[in-house]
Amino acid sequence: MANPKTDKTILRALAGETLPTPPIWMMRQAGRYLPEYKATRAKAGDFLSLCYNPELATEVTLQPIRRFGFDAAILFADILLIPQALGADLWFVTGEGPRLSTITGEAELAQLRGVDDIHETLSPIYQTVRNLRQELPKETTLIGFAGAPWTVATYMIAGKGTPDQGPAHELKGTHPAVFDALIERLTEATIEYLSAQIEAGAEVVKLFDSWAGSLNGPDFDRYALEPTKRIITALKKRHPDTPVIAFPRQAKDAYIGFAKATGADCVAVDDSVTAEWVAEHVQPGGCVQGNLASSHMVTGGDALVSQTRRIVQALRNGPHIFNLGHGITPDANPDNVQLMIDTVRET
Ligand code: CP3
Repeated sequence: MANPKTDKTILRALAGETLPTPPIWMMRQAGRYLPEYKATRAKAGDFLSLCYNPELATEVTLQPIRRFGFDAAILFADILLIPQALGADLWFVTGEGPRLSTITGEAELAQLRGVDDIHETLSPIYQTVRNLRQELPKETTLIGFAGAPWTVATYMIAGKGTPDQGPAHELKGTHPAVFDALIERLTEATIEYLSAQIEAGAEVVKLFDSWAGSLNGPDFDRYALEPTKRIITALKKRHPDTPVIAFPRQAKDAYIGFAKATGADCVAVDDSVTAEWVAEHVQPGGCVQGNLASSHMVTGGDALVSQTRRIVQALRNGPHIFNLGHGITPDANPDNVQLMIDTVRET
């Protein structure tokens, strides 16, 4: 069990402790639902300039901590910075999302940069981590993160977000060697990127496999579970005391045993599974994180309160970090975030 000698509640939960009140943070807690985020992004110019500006990225990471007093801060960056550091073109189209140069065969793969070259692009991110360790309140845990290889590959292959990850599935079928080499490159790059974040001061790291749910059977094991396991094994060798949270979103039954199979200290679960199911099937394997539907942050009211209480109750007999099942959306009301926090801390 990682790092038990600490007062930080997130680290205690990750070490397997059952706490009377679950610690709480929220995916995308720094973001467009906050007016102060929008003001700082405007100052930076655009989203990517904000990610690569350590002073302003530090500021937006701290904003939700100041406003709500979350138990953890998550580094402000994006999972698509790794493709960019490997040489892909990356830009964001307002109102639509990310766009990247595409990988459709051997030729584009050969143009990617080597894993050792990523730090040149990513060094401002490590500076943000160093700043945050200086500036965060002493009780607040700093979480670093990266995308898991499959999820990042889906964007690199399609050149954008896709509803069904069709282009990535297609390349996996038609050019398996190219596909496997891309997963391999991303696995290696992610190990180096997360190691550098830990060396700069990240106390926990999280792997976002947002599209893990579109992999089935042997494909899930090969492209979601195996790369996660390899990354965690390599990180634990270098940084045995740093806990890792894995988020194989929409894994459903494959959430069961995922922590044991990969070495993750915690499995984050989305809201397609109930907290009672998680308590029965996933929490016996260690700490769990989740899983309030982020739509409650838009709609609020009694449903928000009762569903928050239900999750806290269901998961109170084991280690639990309270969170949403996915990121908070831009149309959310900050008052509902406060109501969620008050409900968790009063339950
Ligand atoms: O959680 C946090 O507060 C930390 C920062 C963070 C961002 N993205 C900031 C961001 C984290 C952890 C991410 C992860 C991320 N990025 C994921 C995995 C988690 C998930 O949501 O499934 C994915 C798939 C991405 C890729 C990405 N980045 C997309 C598809 C988009 C566009 C969609 C959108 O919400 O606009 C982004 C942009 C992005 N990343 C924003 C933020 C705050 C919005 C950019 C803006 O300010 O306009």
